[in-house]
Amino acid sequence: MKQFPRSDLLNRLPKQFFASLVKKAGQYIEKGFDVINLGQGNPDQPTPDHIVSKLQEAATNPINHKYSPFQGFGYLKQAVADFYQREYGVKIHPEKEVAILFGGKAGLVELPQCLLNPGDNVLVPDPGYPDYWSGVAMAKAEMVTMPLKEENQFLPKYDEIADDVLEKAKLMFLNYPNNPTGAIATPDFFAETVELAEKYDICIVHDFAYGAIGFDGVKPTSFLQTKGAKEVGIEIYTLSKTYNMAGWRVAFAVGNESVISSLELLQDHLYVSLFGAVQEAAAMALTGPQDCVRELNQMYERRRNVLIEGLRSIGWNVTAPKGSFFAWLKVPQGFTSEEFANFLLEKAHIIVAPGIGFGTYGEGYVRVGLLSSEERLKEAVRRISSLEIFKK
Ligand SMILES: Cc1ncc(COP(=O)(O)O)c(C=O)c1O
Repeated sequence: MKQFPRSDLLNRLPKQFFASLVKKAGQYIEKGFDVINLGQGNPDQPTPDHIVSKLQEAATNPINHKYSPFQGFGYLKQAVADFYQREYGVKIHPEKEVAILFGGKAGLVELPQCLLNPGDNVLVPDPGYPDYWSGVAMAKAEMVTMPLKEENQFLPKYDEIADDVLEKAKLMFLNYPNNPTGAIATPDFFAETVELAEKYDICIVHDFAYGAIGFDGVKPTSFLQTKGAKEVGIEIYTLSKTYNMAGWRVAFAVGNESVISSLELLQDHLYVSLFGAVQEAAAMALTGPQDCVRELNQMYERRRNVLIEGLRSIGWNVTAPKGSFFAWLKVPQGFTSEEFANFLLEKAHIIVAPGIGFGTYGEGYVRVGLLSSEERLKEAVRRISSLEIFKK
């Protein structure tokens, strides 16, 4: 068969770091081992019934069998505005300040193409969610990493970024509650971010994928609750985690009108819009009963407690995440993050994600997902406790 070479654009895309671990884990599963997969970020619970029922009903409506309006249905944008008002006390103009997205990932990858020219600087967190890198590569922009260190509560230190880098920066990605570190942002940090963005004309993109998951009674702060935030940026909110709708591919961007209109312009050329029945179900999710969200949050908190308390009881001194559904654990001395992930797979049949896959500053950590039952997490702790290195 003739091989057609890939475009420069595809060749620029970052390599999929986790692919080799997934392959290796597959080999263990094939051999019949009982593998506990704590490596991925796929919510394990089903979408709440009232949302699924809305989809079923809406799927029978012929209006949804036609092309949807290009930029999405007005009722969904209104539902987004109502959601932000109810949850965060933030006023959003439904027509001008909301763009409907095919999942947060699509919006994150589209944004650099909307706002950047080749050579522009983009500030990205390190460690950080790898999809930020993909959009930057597509736009031929330059990535500048902002270290997230434990001693700074995994928040970037803006005074450590060189002035000429800030002068050239056009875009910054932030993400709290944070994947992979489980850290949350403070209102003061967001205020400092707005100040920096105003001074250097940087567009801030706050990825609020884990907005609904905060522990110890702390509700995560929306970036848009910060004074002046809409002047300098947007927030991306996905229904994937809040309502267990990862397979549905529905999210939205809210905030700065010029950024929203650029996103919609690019999307006009790429797609029509989401299936109308998905839009109806998404509106139901945002404006319908919210007990499911509270219960989900409590479930993740119970799982976090089982894992963290369990690991501490066997002498592994780990830090508890404050939000998201990930725990970010310092690996025992003598291992790199990749070596430790391989060690856990080989000796305990547990999959975790090595921190180095999220960036240089991820070295020395592994990410553990809270996406398995308390029983499975207890079993994981039991297996880890029987490893020689944890024997007292
Ligand atoms: C930090 C972060 N941002 C965005 C996303 C994208 O979510 P989705 O594309 O399902 O909306 C994820 C999903 O894992 C994530 O972890």
